[in-house]
Order: sequence, then structure tokens, then C-alpha cells
Amino acid sequence: MEIVEELYEKAQEVRKKAYAPYSKYKVGAAIYSEEGHIYEGCNVENISYPCGVCAEAGAISSMIAGGDKKISKILVVSDGENLVYPCGACLQRIAEFSTNETVIYVADAKGIQKKHLLQELLPYAFKEEGLLNE
Ligand code: THU
Repeated sequence: MEIVEELYEKAQEVRKKAYAPYSKYKVGAAIYSEEGHIYEGCNVENISYPCGVCAEAGAISSMIAGGDKKISKILVVSDGENLVYPCGACLQRIAEFSTNETVIYVADAKGIQKKHLLQELLPYAFKEEGLLNE
């Protein structure tokens, strides 16, 4: 199976576990890291609405907790009427762990619909290398 197909299946699986009682909008995300592992995340809402966390943020946390550092590909899936693109905050979160080749796939119940470089969706990401003290 191609890696993107695997990402789609994993994102669909985790999407079912999303905790979205307020919006009723379930989102799943799956990352293929540069290091060669798959990580998943789903949205987790909260009765205090702004405390909710997007699926992409969950997948990124899982990748970092798993010891990997860079996102090679990230796929986001929902099944609304419109395709769900990562929100602005999540694009910035992805940018933190991206390379010039990081790809974002956008999918719905029918399959993968769009493929973009992160650079296309967030061409001027805030990335001040000078702030890194490593
Ligand atoms: N959501 C995500 O998980 N990812 C996105 O890229 C867009 C929005 C979630 C947040 C909230 O739980 C629900 O979708 C409705 O906004």
C-alpha cells in the first residue's frame, strides 16, 4: 500500500474517535515523519470552546512524543460538504516541523482531493531561525 493511502486509512480511523460533541465536526490527521513513522491525531473539543484542540495539533504532539522531528507528509480528513484545510494556527504548527518539501493532503469521505506544499498554503510562515538556541 502506498504511504498516502495508509495515511488516509489511519486518518479516517482516528477521525471516528474525535471528541466533537459541540461542533459535531470530526477531523482526523495522519503524519508521515521524515524518520519514517506514522502518527495520528483527532480533534478534541472542550465545553470551554477555545480550549479545543485541532486534529493536526494532536498528530504533531504524537510525533514529538514519539521522538521524531520533521513532517514529510500530513493528511487531514473530514466529511463535511466542503474540504477541510488546516486552519491558520495549524499551518503555523506544521511549519514549525516542516521542510521545503513538506506536503499537505486534504481528503474527504471519497478520498484524497488535494495535494499542496506547505509553502503554498503558508508562504510567509514565521520561522526566525535566530530564535532557536540550539
Ligand atoms: N478542526 C480541526 O481539527 N482541524 C482543522 O484543520 C480545522 C478545524 C476542528 C476544530 C473543531 O473541533 C472542529 O474542527 C470545528 O471547527
